[in-house]
Amino acid sequence: MKMTLRLMLSFVAVAAITVVVCTALQAREEYARLERDLKRQARMLGDSLQPSIEQLMAAQSPTDLRAFVQRIEDQEHIAGVAIYGRDGQPLAMTERLPDAFRTLPALARDAVSANRVQETFRVDDHRRWYLQARPIQRENAVEGVWLLAYDASHVTAQRITMWLWEFLRLLLQVFFITSAVLLILWWSFSRSVSKTAEWIRRLRTAEPSDGFTPPTERLFAPLTRELTHMAKSLHAARSAAEEEARLRNAGESRWTPERLKEHVRTTLKGRPLIVVSNREPYMHVRVGRDVQCVVPAAGLVTAMESVLRACGGTWIAHGSGNADRETADAAGKLKVPPESPRYTLRRVWLEPAEERGYYYGFANEGLWPLCHIAHTRPIFRVEDWMHYARVNAKFADVIVEELAQTDQPCVLIQDYHFALLPRLIKARRPDAKIALFWHIPWPNPEAFSICPWGKELLHGMLGADLLGFHIQFHCNNFLDTVDRMLESRVDWERFAVTRAEHTTSVKPFPISIAEPEASPATASGASQAVAKAEVLKALNLQTHWLGVGVDRLDYTKGLVERVLAIERFLDRYPSFQGRFTYVELGAPSRTSIARYQELTTALEAHIERINQRFQTRTWKPIVFLKKQHSHQEIAPFYRAADVCVVTSLHDGMNLVAKEFVAARADQRGVLILSQFTGASRELHDALIINPYDIDQVAEALHYALTMDTHEQKTRMGHMRAHLQEYNVYRWAANLVTELTRLRPDSTTSSQVPLQVG
Ligand code: G6P
Repeated sequence: MKMTLRLMLSFVAVAAITVVVCTALQAREEYARLERDLKRQARMLGDSLQPSIEQLMAAQSPTDLRAFVQRIEDQEHIAGVAIYGRDGQPLAMTERLPDAFRTLPALARDAVSANRVQETFRVDDHRRWYLQARPIQRENAVEGVWLLAYDASHVTAQRITMWLWEFLRLLLQVFFITSAVLLILWWSFSRSVSKTAEWIRRLRTAEPSDGFTPPTERLFAPLTRELTHMAKSLHAARSAAEEEARLRNAGESRWTPERLKEHVRTTLKGRPLIVVSNREPYMHVRVGRDVQCVVPAAGLVTAMESVLRACGGTWIAHGSGNADRETADAAGKLKVPPESPRYTLRRVWLEPAEERGYYYGFANEGLWPLCHIAHTRPIFRVEDWMHYARVNAKFADVIVEELAQTDQPCVLIQDYHFALLPRLIKARRPDAKIALFWHIPWPNPEAFSICPWGKELLHGMLGADLLGFHIQFHCNNFLDTVDRMLESRVDWERFAVTRAEHTTSVKPFPISIAEPEASPATASGASQAVAKAEVLKALNLQTHWLGVGVDRLDYTKGLVERVLAIERFLDRYPSFQGRFTYVELGAPSRTSIARYQELTTALEAHIERINQRFQTRTWKPIVFLKKQHSHQEIAPFYRAADVCVVTSLHDGMNLVAKEFVAARADQRGVLILSQFTGASRELHDALIINPYDIDQVAEALHYALTMDTHEQKTRMGHMRAHLQEYNVYRWAANLVTELTRLRPDSTTSSQVPLQVG
């Protein structure tokens, strides 16, 4: 009410000022016009009478002069005429002129002395006059002067009337416009506000709000955005609480974000969790004038992000986005996720040469192919190694600074970019508990031994208290490698290495995804048929069967093998020609490295050739969508696919396989999974294939597309149940529990392996 009153008063005040100013301007203009008209009329009359008056003056007949002026007086608005002789005495004068005109007025004197027409407006005797004085000439001498007087009061009167009308007219206009604006404002505001209020009420009281959306007007956009986040958080908190209650009731031991949060809080006794990785979870990139926040395509990011969201803490990573500096503070810090901050991201800045040597060079041209047996030869350059060591030291400085305020901090280091980091931190913070999780495979000792700095890497890694791999096989390979290359004591019973009085425990922790989408009964997503129809429509595709693959464009993913298998499948089963399309969502990755460019070129050439071979006017077998897709963009493809294909030649885990299963709340769809992925050790109900065996993959495609619904459901059901239990929260809880459980070095021998929950 107060606001409405304020609005109204403001409108009225603005309107009043507008009316007064506009009317004044218009009245002044009108007044000047009327005066101009009067002057013009008077001049014309003066000009026309001048010769007659001169003639009558020459005739020296006062009687004729008097009769003449009486005739003039009858004209409109003329107040009178007076004719004065050379001596200034009135010779003739109309009766209505006041007596004051019997004396020669100053204006008339001026006309005589200047010998030209003079005119003026003046107020006299409560009247407004217009006076015009003209000299009377005879034979080049001034014989007298005559005065034409107009009553100009009508101009003033007209001005007042005009003021009044203009004022009324404008007042009415302003009144109507103001009322209309107020009405519109009131109508839209009150509608939107009550809509918002109703929406919030439904959220609060947990009433179904289907089909009930918050206001969509632009004006309300910031409010709606915030409310939508709030609604999501509220919904998530409510579901989590319900889920917790349900699990407690059922006596289940499932890991949820809340349970992990509580677990980490008690295990770390309130100390913050510190995570380190090369790849950051949120990257800011400049696109034209805009800055966009991108979530990089990386399994590591997908998994760790869920953990940090649940527990909070600090994630230290390379700030690699070209707008990263402008979106962080002076220390490189910012709160993320941007829409609802839960933890701190601390960015570490690298010089271009450092990034080239450490990331592209040693990590990705050296260690990556070294650890993945995918027949790409590792390249080791001494300058890359130097950069790798320097960048590890740079990260160590940042981490030690970050740990300054914490006793016995816990640090979770991620992946092959930081093999030297555990030792570097341990040297400066012996009280820190350090885990290094190696997300990629570990090769056999022979393969590893080709690395010229293998011993240094192992030495650096063994600075950690806990070393994690996805599967036991990689742990064994690692212990084997250490056994062969370093002087140390390898304990094969407890899976630990002791070197220079420090013991590192080596254990498998199969990483996972957050959790499968809700069961079919409560599934929020559309059914497969609807999802498929939408995906096909968006891509303008016509097909009956849909296959999907989601990968970084990396030579370890077996992408060429995959498209060759699709070709073989279409050759062997021609009835699927025109009826099966495979969509590859391929995210460009490490594109500065020649091998990655070669892979993309080769893959595109194969796809082009296969498409040329089979495609028709309305159908093609392979659609290659080469770009970085967000999780939201990928989700509909998972839900729509009849088959998801993972053909990695070697992969630590492969979370795409788990994401596909998690997305299938309808328990439909088939997963084809390479036997060389960590995931194949858990997802036994996938169709496990050898990606090098093109015929086998082609057969698996046929088997998947002809699998009956019952078998699909059974297989998917088993895999979903497994993921429900072994989710990323359990993974993180196991890692943290194991790390904090480890005793100081002197007492390590009494350790007993332990897994939580
Ligand atoms: C693998 C690695 C991660 C890496 C990811 C994406 O999953 O294990 O450490 O982040 O690939 O690669 P990128 O080089 O883009 O970070």
